[in-house]
Amino acid sequence: MRLHIANHPLIDHKLTVLRDERTPSAIFRQLADELVTLLAYEATRDVQVEDIKIKTPVAETIGKRISEPRPIVIPILRAGLGMLEGMTRMIPTAEVGFLGMKRDEQTLAVETYANRLPDDLSGRHCFILDPMLATGHSMIAAIEYLLERGAREVTCICLLAAPEGLKTVEEAVGERADVNIVTASVDERLNEHAYIVPGLGDAGDRLYGVV
Ligand code: URA
Repeated sequence: MRLHIANHPLIDHKLTVLRDERTPSAIFRQLADELVTLLAYEATRDVQVEDIKIKTPVAETIGKRISEPRPIVIPILRAGLGMLEGMTRMIPTAEVGFLGMKRDEQTLAVETYANRLPDDLSGRHCFILDPMLATGHSMIAAIEYLLERGAREVTCICLLAAPEGLKTVEEAVGERADVNIVTASVDERLNEHAYIVPGLGDAGDRLYGVV
């Protein structure tokens, strides 16, 4: 597993406003979107491209285009949805699939309740969007799901990660060079309710309200 902590003053600034409990949902959504666009820039560094011949108004030249099969972006419902637009803004030709995963708050076990993805992901670069890498259990379930279907590379984009979750994911995926985590910050720890500390609270609730 490769971990990339995106380091940039704009990311730090936006993240601080996101963390602030006084930030209302509308601003939270806007900032989460902007933050994902910045993370997407880092996360797409090794997207595969191929040469393409084009003609500018002045001359022929060789440029680059994203190779087939197209990358696929997979928000984990519900909170990952708040990251989708920020990601597809950077990579509009990507396909979009969905995975619905939730954790039982008592047992912390992960249940997959929705899946809209191709069965065959051979050769695909998959981008998982999940704002909070907390225990790591849903992330591991999602990564395994994609690798079992042939994904060439899996990149997880998270706003925040907990050291415990990163360790659990690392133990599960080991030295695999085809699993990447890109995050804006690795926070201090998880609390007894598996919330990230200091974190930003419940990302789904802060994006969409408590339902
Ligand atoms: N999920 C959240 O939304 N917040 C956390 O702190 C941990 C998991």
